Amino acid sequence: MNNLEKVLYDEDTHKCVMFSFDDETYEESFLSVNQYLIVHNGLGILIDPGSEVIFYQLIEAVSKYVDVDNIKYIFYSHQDPDVSGSVLQWAVSTSARFIISNLWVRFLSHYGFMDLARVISLEDCGTKLEFDEEYIEFVPAHFLHSPGNFSVYDSKSKIVFSGDIGAAVVNTITNYKHVTDFDEHKEHLYGFHKRYMGSNKLCRAWVSKIEKLDVNIIAPQHGLIFEHKSVQLFLDWLKDLKCGSDYMDELYS
Ligand SMILES: [Fe+2]
Ligand SMILES: [Fe+2]
Repeated sequence: MNNLEKVLYDEDTHKCVMFSFDDETYEESFLSVNQYLIVHNGLGILIDPGSEVIFYQLIEAVSKYVDVDNIKYIFYSHQDPDVSGSVLQWAVSTSARFIISNLWVRFLSHYGFMDLARVISLEDCGTKLEFDEEYIEFVPAHFLHSPGNFSVYDSKSKIVFSGDIGAAVVNTITNYKHVTDFDEHKEHLYGFHKRYMGSNKLCRAWVSKIEKLDVNIIAPQHGLIFEHKSVQLFLDWLKDLKCGSDYMDELYS
């Protein structure tokens, strides 16, 4: 399994790192994934750490940036196995608390994780965690694609960790997985978003939340990150996207 690492933000006591796992041998069957780590004053917040398949490589990679004992929170944008499948391994290896939509708390037991005292369940409206002057905000992203779904905004780095929103299935050999040509990249976005995302109305609701924030990067759980002008190009594309229930007649024909 290949792991590409990229530091997306590094200033004083605050760092954001992207980890990207691909498997060339199983390119057809393994869905490539991005994981993210925020380190603030030596404490770690891990975002969508993924499945058991990548657990050992990821924990080794993460430990280069933060002492594993100092991982304070592990956030799951939603319940999918490529997001939260290794909850049991992380529960055994850290003392972190797990943050997820209240819709999915009890489902974690089916990954073998029973210690609900370690779970912070998010109400639909989301919340903020404050650190000194800065904060991370859990922004509602419901039905994009999961019914109980959140993105995370980091006020210091101005990065939105968007979960499956903005995801694309692309294979890249570069060590910096960012969009360089949005027109070309949107072809990779369309198929996934059309079928997985809830509806245009929901996309617009999420975009209106994100447009109120000061955003430098949108970092999805699959594929390439959006930065500079591709941030607004992506948000504009998403505002106009027809998806999910907009194709109800076709889906139920
Ligand atoms: Fe998902
Ligand atoms: Fe995903």
